Formats: sequence, C-alpha cells, structure tokens
Amino acid sequence: MKKRTLASRVEGIAPFQVMAVLARAKVLQALGEDVIHLEVGEPDFVAPKAVADAGVQAIKEGKTGYTSATGLSELKSTISRYYASRYQVDVAPERIIVTPGASGALLLMASLMVDQGDEVIMPDPCYPCNRHFLIQAGAKAKLIETQAERAFEIDLNRLSDDWTANTSGLWLASPSNPTGAVLNKSYLAEAWQRVEALGGHLLVDEIYQGLVFEGDDFTVLSISDEIFVINSFSKYFAMTGWRLGWIVVPEWAIEGATKLAQNLFISAPSVSQYAALRAFEPDVLAECEARRQQLDRRRVTLLAGLAKIGLPVVAPAQGAFYIYVDVSSVTDDAMAWCLELLEEEKVALTPGADFGIKNANKYVRFAYTCDELRLQDALERIKRFIVSNKRLVV
Ligand SMILES: Cc1ncc(COP(=O)(O)O)c(C=O)c1O
Repeated sequence: MKKRTLASRVEGIAPFQVMAVLARAKVLQALGEDVIHLEVGEPDFVAPKAVADAGVQAIKEGKTGYTSATGLSELKSTISRYYASRYQVDVAPERIIVTPGASGALLLMASLMVDQGDEVIMPDPCYPCNRHFLIQAGAKAKLIETQAERAFEIDLNRLSDDWTANTSGLWLASPSNPTGAVLNKSYLAEAWQRVEALGGHLLVDEIYQGLVFEGDDFTVLSISDEIFVINSFSKYFAMTGWRLGWIVVPEWAIEGATKLAQNLFISAPSVSQYAALRAFEPDVLAECEARRQQLDRRRVTLLAGLAKIGLPVVAPAQGAFYIYVDVSSVTDDAMAWCLELLEEEKVALTPGADFGIKNANKYVRFAYTCDELRLQDALERIKRFIVSNKRLVV
C-alpha cells in the first residue's frame, strides 16, 4: 500500500523557534514562576473599548453573515478617508480589499503576484511567514543579507545584480518586524524606481503604520499607485484576535484580487468589520496615539537599559514595538541563549533564527510588550544572567 504523506511543500515551512520558548515559559509559569514575556508580537493592550462595544452591538443586531468578498463598502470608504485625512493620499475605496488579518492579505498577495518557480527578494531578517506564503504559492524568497550598521536595509545599488529572470519583485516592510527600522521616503522612492525599471512588483507591508517614533509616518502609496500595500487592524488598533486587515492594489489588479478574495476567504469576519468602522473615530484614534506614546517611552527605556548592560543597539529601532539586539558579545548561539535565559532568569525573548538566516545566531528580538517597570526588571535579570555566567566579553 502506498505510504500516505503530506505535501512536500510542508517540509519547506519552518515552525516558529519561539514556540519552544513560549512552551517552556508556560510550563515555568504553571510552576508558579514569574515570567516576563517579551517574545510575542502583541502588546499588553486590548482593542479600544469603543471598538469592542461596536463589535458587541453588531452581534446583537445580527450583523453576523458574510459580507461582500472585498469587505463592507462603508469600511472601505472609511479606510479611504483615513488615507486622505491622515496621509494626504487619494486611495479609491475599490482598490482596498479587506482581508482576514495581514496574514490573509499576505496569502492573497502571494497567490496574486507570483508564479510557480518565481523568486521574491526580501531582506534578511524579515517576517518569517512571508517566505512561507511564497512556498505555498510554489515560489520562494531570496533573502538578501543586511547589516545593522546600514539600518538593515537592502543595498538598492545591488538590486539588479540579485534580480534574475525568475524574480517577480521586492517585498519590504516599514516599520519592520523584527528590527523596528523605518524606511524613509527617498529609500522607498528609489526602491520603486528600480523595481519598476526591472519590470517587477513592489509590495510594502505597512502593518506597523502609525507606530513610528522617529522619522516620518507616511504611506508608500504617496509614491505610486502601482505599489501593493498590506495593512492590518492588529497592531496600531490592538485588534490582533479580531483577524482583520486590508490590502491596497493598483487599479488593474482589483479584478484578480477580488476573485482570489472570493475563493480564499468568502469574506473577512463581519463582526470585526463592523467594529473596525468605529476605529477611525477621533476618540479611538486619540487612544491609539496615547498608546503609541506609551510604547515610545518603553522603547527609550529599553534602548538605554540595553546599552547599560553591555548590549548596545546599533540599528535605529524607530517603529513597531521591536528591538533587534546583537548578543554575539555574550553567545554564539542565540537560540540556546534564549532558552538558558528563560530557565535561569525567566525572561522570554525570540531568537533571531525565526527571522533570518545569515546572522540569525547573533540576534534576539525584544518585543516591548509590557510596562516600563517590567522592562526594568527584565533588564536587571538579563544583566544578572550575563554577569553570573561570566559571558560578558569586554
Ligand atoms: C510584518 C508582519 N506582517 C504581517 C503580520 C500578520 O499580522 P496579522 O495577521 O495579525 O494582521 C505580522 C504579525 O506579527 C507582522 O509582523
């Protein structure tokens, strides 16, 4: 009898390394240990109350059926108005397709933009699911090594050298997960100019839009209507579990994206869409802004504290809620270091291996998802861990 197996593409999809950290952290917690969680990309905020209330109201009113595949037209118009008022960019509502989170958006984009055997260029490190969504579509990611000293940016002068006949495009994210780096407008304008000249697509993941602490908070849509953009309610609006995001596509891609949205998802969650209508009201936006300021204070605390304990951060962490820290002065195996740190001092971090290949063993990601007192506590514990293990290289 033929042995039953899973599809070979599953082999190419790596599990999250951080799951081993998270699983152990949960065991330690169950044993009564006080674990400081800085590993998962989800701050200690819940969805704004007004948004949650709007969701409850939608349930009470029975607004729980499918919506149109590309999203509620009121929501698309609201997002379009938000682009106009906050970013002074004109985005026709028809170009917006509401998706089940940015994850649904990435799946749709991969299906929309790549053919079997294609390659997509992206920086190493970057969000790991990008490459897995490409595998799902029969394509693959070509990771380009970046350096902290160059703000983890791909060197655009070398883009044409890395480009082959199979390259479909360039995928970037700003602010970035895991580095927190923000790409500036001139970098993105040059990226688009080069990608366009090479006949490829440019996709920019703007899921951390709004969470910018240094530099300009803008959208790449201000550069060209031909750029594909991903966004989500997960981060700025703290709605991770509501599973709601959106994409913006050029005019000529609307029909293709709509067909895929119909077939892949039928529609994004309706209750979440009705709730999200409330997210763009001034009171909710003010709440999100206050949270942004809170995150900025955490960032400053963490950056200063890391420098003090001998782990200075070279690359600017200007956005999102992540700092990507070089720990090569204290270990040559970041994953093992994360597990030992958790065991000895009960601080949970994400190893670089989840995000990249080249220098992954040298890096860990801090997600500043808890308040400043907890962050200070985490820094104390990490310092004690480094000193007690005499790992500090001077
Ligand atoms: C860069 C990036 N893109 C996409 C996602 C997926 O987000 P969601 O599906 O919650 O909208 C994440 C989640 O952390 C992310 O960091």
